[in-house]
Order: sequence, then C-alpha cells, then structure tokens
Amino acid sequence: MPHSTNGDIKITVVGAGGGIGQSLSLLIKTQLTRELPNHRQALLALYDVNDDAVRGVAADLSHIDTAVTVVGYEKDKIGEALGGADIVLVPAGVPRKPGMAREDLLVINAKIVRGIGSSIAQYCDLNKVFILLISNPINSLVPVLVKELESKSGNIRAERRVLGITKLDSVRASAFLHDAAVEHGLKPKSNTLEDVTVVGGHSGETIVPIFSQTACCDALPRDALEALIHRVQFGGDEVVKAKNGAGSATLCMAHAAYTVATSFIPLLTGQKRSITGTFYIALRDAQGQPINNSAKRLLGMINDLSYFAVPVEITSQGVGEVDTSVVERMTKYERERLLAPCLGKLGGSIKNGLSL
Ligand code: NAD
Ligand code: LMR
Repeated sequence: MPHSTNGDIKITVVGAGGGIGQSLSLLIKTQLTRELPNHRQALLALYDVNDDAVRGVAADLSHIDTAVTVVGYEKDKIGEALGGADIVLVPAGVPRKPGMAREDLLVINAKIVRGIGSSIAQYCDLNKVFILLISNPINSLVPVLVKELESKSGNIRAERRVLGITKLDSVRASAFLHDAAVEHGLKPKSNTLEDVTVVGGHSGETIVPIFSQTACCDALPRDALEALIHRVQFGGDEVVKAKNGAGSATLCMAHAAYTVATSFIPLLTGQKRSITGTFYIALRDAQGQPINNSAKRLLGMINDLSYFAVPVEITSQGVGEVDTSVVERMTKYERERLLAPCLGKLGGSIKNGLSL
C-alpha cells in the first residue's frame, strides 16, 4: 500500500474525475511544490468510482513537469488511494441543477459520503489524517461523516479530523466586496483583496458574512451592503443558473479548496505547530460533550448547535480552540438579521443529517 513514506506529503482527492476534482487536482499538481520545503516531496492520489475518468485525469496530469507524483486509483482500489494520506479532499457526489436546493442532494450524497467515511475509517490513520469535505449539503453531511467515522472506527476523537470546507463563501465575500467597493468609487489600496470572515453554514441564510469587521464596510451605503450580503448567501445559485443544468461551481471551488489544502502544509511539514482557518466543524464529541472550553463558550452563543463554521485553530491533534471573538464582536444588525435566521435553519439541517 503506497504510504506517504520518507516524510512525503500524501494528498488524496476522492471524486477526482469530477468538475471540482479535476480542477483541484490540476492546481495541486501545478502549484503545490511552491508551498513545500525543498526536501519534501508530494504524492497526489486520485480516486473516483468512474474508472475511465480517474485513469484519464491521472495520465493527463502526470505529463505536467512538476515534482508532484500523480497516481490514479480505480473503483476497487480505494484502500490504496487512502492509505497513508495526510489530507483527504472529498468533492465526491452529485451537484445541483437549476430549481434544486443543496438540501435536495442530501439522501443521494449522504449515501456516497457514508461509504467514503467507512473506507476512511478502515484505511486512514485517524490520529493523523485531515478530512476536508466539499460535497453538499455540507451543513448535514459533516454530521453524517462524523457519525460514520465514530461508529466505524471507534476512535473517540474522530470528530476533530473532519472539516467542512466553507471557504468558497469567504472567497466570494472578498470578491464581491471588492466589486461593490469599486462600484461605489472606493479605490482599492492594493491588489490584495480584503479577507471577510464568514460563519454559520454553507447554504442560503445559514451563510453569515461578517462585513462589519472589514475596513471598507462603513463607507458602503446600507442598501449596497444588504445586496452584498444577499449575493454572498446566494452566490452558488448564480453559477447553477449560468451553467443551466451542467452543474454548479467548480473552478472557484477548486481555488477555494486548493487554498485550504495548502494552508495545512506548514503544519504537515513541521514548520508550524498550529494553523488557523474557518471550517464547519463538530463542537461536541461522541459523548455529546463540548470538545473544549472555547467550543463550550461558542455553544452558548449559537443556541447549542453541535456544528458551526467558525475560525478555529488546527494542530496535529485535529480541531483545537475555536475563536469566539468574531461572533462576540458581531453588530446588533448581524446578530438579529443574520445570525438568528442562520441558527434556525442550521439546526434543521443538522437534525436532517443526523436522522438519516
Ligand atoms: P461532478 O459530478 O462533476 O463530480 C463528482 C464526482 O464524484 C464524479 O466524478 C463522480 O464519479 C464522483 N463520485 C461519485 N460517487 C463517488 C464515490 N463514492 N467515490 C468517489 N467518487 C465518487 O460534481 P462537482 O461539480 O465536482 O461537485 C461535487 C460536489 O461538490 C457536489 O455535491 C457539489 O454540490 C459540491 N460543491 C460544494 C461546494 C462547497 O462550497 N462546499 C462548492 C461547489 C460544489
Ligand atoms: C456553491 O456555493 O457554489 C456550491 O455549494 C454549489 C451549489 O450547489 O451552489
């Protein structure tokens, strides 16, 4: 079983033959060596249930002149694809078509994610691997995956290895804030766009962008700010509509997932003891207890919901302390008009995932 031996970094993409999987794998193959210390090598393992797709993508990518080694694994080789992985990225599953909500994908994608979770429990080291879930609906599927890992692995800290990727929402928030600032004559000071923290979940009103904590927010008129918030919450619909039945966002998602995956490199190569990022995570362990004191504090601010996207510290032990300060510093408007509806809807999505 090919492991990430000799201190190499092994990244496995599950669903590598799909729209996100292909673009994400291209970014990893072409860009990852820039992020790695000179003496470290990277292995990119591609897995998909579509044998032709994974074979084709692996052959195609392996002709690119970078030092990232690419190996494709067909349907019955999932153990080899997952064995020894440091990061497992999961963009496997069905995307939306116009007229569908992400929640309409729950039953079909839960089956897929549960199967993948069961294989991860069997073949990955749950004291080491980070599982970055992309498949929708994230709000319900992270609970599904955590439950599956806990029941199949018996690892009592499995929930700390699962991170739902909500990065696309902050990517969109930065891009759309920049557009709005330019439109309102606020000249950007540099080509570096401003970061926007987005908490909650990843679907409609559960997406809570915190624009009040950005520099140019106060200079925007109230109606522009409200339009901006709406655009971030429903940005996915723009792409689904534009693709007109050919799927949902793939390229911006691949960019978001690549950014997230590379943020782990300093941790995996021992250059840093911890990193931070915003992820949709479990705040309680398998026994229902808060995973730590900061999670307990956050639970008190979010109606006790067991899953939430929030800035969090990640160490080799998995999810660590959550940063409650962004929620604490939300304005009255953000708390009442954004956080309150988010909590109502997110509670239902979590329940739906756990009830399957
Ligand atoms: P796609 O249909 O292009 O690709 C999905 C791939 O998954 C296919 O190649 C398929 O063969 C593969 N697959 C299916 N079952 C599998 C299994 N059991 N194991 C391995 N591979 C399997 O879809 P896409 O556009 O790449 O989107 C994938 C998922 O990502 C969708 O659920 C979509 O809603 C979601 N998504 C999430 C975000 C986010 O922000 N988190 C953003 C965009 C899309
Ligand atoms: C997105 O936000 O673009 C994704 O979640 C895909 C979707 O279904 O909108």
